[in-house]
Amino acid sequence: MELTPIVAGNWKMHKTPKDGHSFVEKTTNLLLEINHVSVIFAPPFTGLFDIDVQPPFYLAAQNCHWEEQGAYTGEISVAMIRDCSAEYVILGHSERRHVFGETDNWINRKVIAVLAGGLKPILCIGETLDQREAGETDLVLKNQLEQGLAEVESLQNIVIAYEPVWAIGTGVTATINQVESAHESVRGILKEIFPDSNDIHVLYGGSVKPANAEELIQVPGVNGFLIGGASLDVESFTSITRTVETVQKRNL
Ligand code: PGA
Repeated sequence: MELTPIVAGNWKMHKTPKDGHSFVEKTTNLLLEINHVSVIFAPPFTGLFDIDVQPPFYLAAQNCHWEEQGAYTGEISVAMIRDCSAEYVILGHSERRHVFGETDNWINRKVIAVLAGGLKPILCIGETLDQREAGETDLVLKNQLEQGLAEVESLQNIVIAYEPVWAIGTGVTATINQVESAHESVRGILKEIFPDSNDIHVLYGGSVKPANAEELIQVPGVNGFLIGGASLDVESFTSITRTVETVQKRNL
């Protein structure tokens, strides 16, 4: 079965609820013709409330806590996210791992909680520059996948985003060969862990822009993008989405 590509915009800590509302309204109006791509907006938690989107547009949270409720000041549960009609939760983003010290074990608990709550995790993985230069990329991806998906029974409802840390927000995009080879490794590792699961979305993230989207979306094994900087601007986000739609239609 052919997977519908995903274009997901991770707004990080940008846009007030009002700004987000107007951004989503403008973007969805400009993308009325889209029907071969799933488009995901991931605003900060405050921007998830009271925002209404219909397929092919979806909402994602950027993080969550694994407990259902309790004395966890500053945290947000899966049920709270679901109540805002979000369908996805980004987990293990490089900034959560490297700035906020999230461990694979925490990320794993979150993955399990998100699945149990009926939502879809977008599990981010990726190596640092030091790890790449030490030839450890495949090992890092394997560890992050094995640990992040521990106790998970199948790949159903899971999206993986391969985001090399050194390419996030730096303007440096991984080369086509690097992206292809990382995506091939990811699929090989997933096949080892889940021999019976169907193929799943593996997105690329890291300095995706209108100028490189066409080349990157055609890399074998890339089923869409997780976009930071370029997802904040109506023009660049709609341009990337249209590019993915055009390439997808051409391939059908
Ligand atoms: P970037 O961020 O597109 O700004 O590199 C990607 C991400 O953090 O998901």
